[in-house]
Amino acid sequence: MESTKDIIGRMSKIQEVGEKECENCGAVYKLFETPRGIMGACKPCADENLKKKLNLPTIEEFRNSKERNFILSFERVSDDLKKATVSSYRPQNDFQLKAKQSAIKFVKGFNGIQSLAFSGNPGLGKSHLAYAVTKAIRDKKYKALYIKVTDLFDRIKSTYGHHSQVTEEQIFRMINDLDLLVLDDIGSEYVKANDSGHETWASDVLYKIFDLRLNKSVICTTNYSESELQQKYGNNGPRIISRMMNNATGIRLEGEDHRRQEAF
Ligand SMILES: Nc1ncnc2c1ncn2[C@@H]1O[C@H](COP(=O)(O)OP(=O)(O)OP(=O)(O)O)[C@@H](O)[C@H]1O
Ligand SMILES: [Mg+2]
Ligand SMILES: [Zn+2]
Repeated sequence: MESTKDIIGRMSKIQEVGEKECENCGAVYKLFETPRGIMGACKPCADENLKKKLNLPTIEEFRNSKERNFILSFERVSDDLKKATVSSYRPQNDFQLKAKQSAIKFVKGFNGIQSLAFSGNPGLGKSHLAYAVTKAIRDKKYKALYIKVTDLFDRIKSTYGHHSQVTEEQIFRMINDLDLLVLDDIGSEYVKANDSGHETWASDVLYKIFDLRLNKSVICTTNYSESELQQKYGNNGPRIISRMMNNATGIRLEGEDHRRQEAF
């Protein structure tokens, strides 16, 4: 049997005999003369192959999935909307047909810039279409969040507490970075009047949100008309509405309350 000494002696005879460029990645690696012939291996490729074998996510994939989970941690959807899709929306009149067509067109031609604003009375499918579009855009691998304005405000307020895991800055950074922000039920949030009769905190936050989203896709839904919203947000009103309608198609819904149709 070969002794350890002999093995070491044989190994020490292994000599560097040249270099080779990796056909796969172009890196240059050393070649050695060994008892089994001339050998060498590309380290970056060997590492990459090992990673593939272990099936580890890349840093990019890891970061993306962390971001996706962060976004989804804000989404809360009522049970009646969970299964809503654009195709399950059955228009009852021309307004609703137009709304559905706009939703389809929006998804097909999504470019991260165009916006939609659905308005109308309760139960006409504004949230249905808004959430359905969110899912369709997400299926196209974009970052999209559907959130009720009241929920978003609650989440922002909760960052003011000492024990909050999430900072206000993180929320605004997410709002800035989304490909699509869907704000459901604008105007439904509680508005505390100040001395001049207008809300301050909520309208300041809403202004900040729309300012961050300027030239980035937003879908809004509301029960209110433009002038009602303007009034509600006081001094910020015109600036909020102007940003909300920037690059936006306004879609007015009319018809029978779908919730009532189901009840009777
Ligand atoms: N045309 C429609 N086809 C199929 N389902 C519909 C249609 N319109 C509404 N719905 C369903 O009716 C329910 C109420 O609709 P939705 O929540 O979208 O109303 P909304 O316009 O957002 O009302 P609100 O102003 O009160 O928020 C949901 O379950 C939704 O899926
Ligand atoms: Mg709604
Ligand atoms: Zn290589």
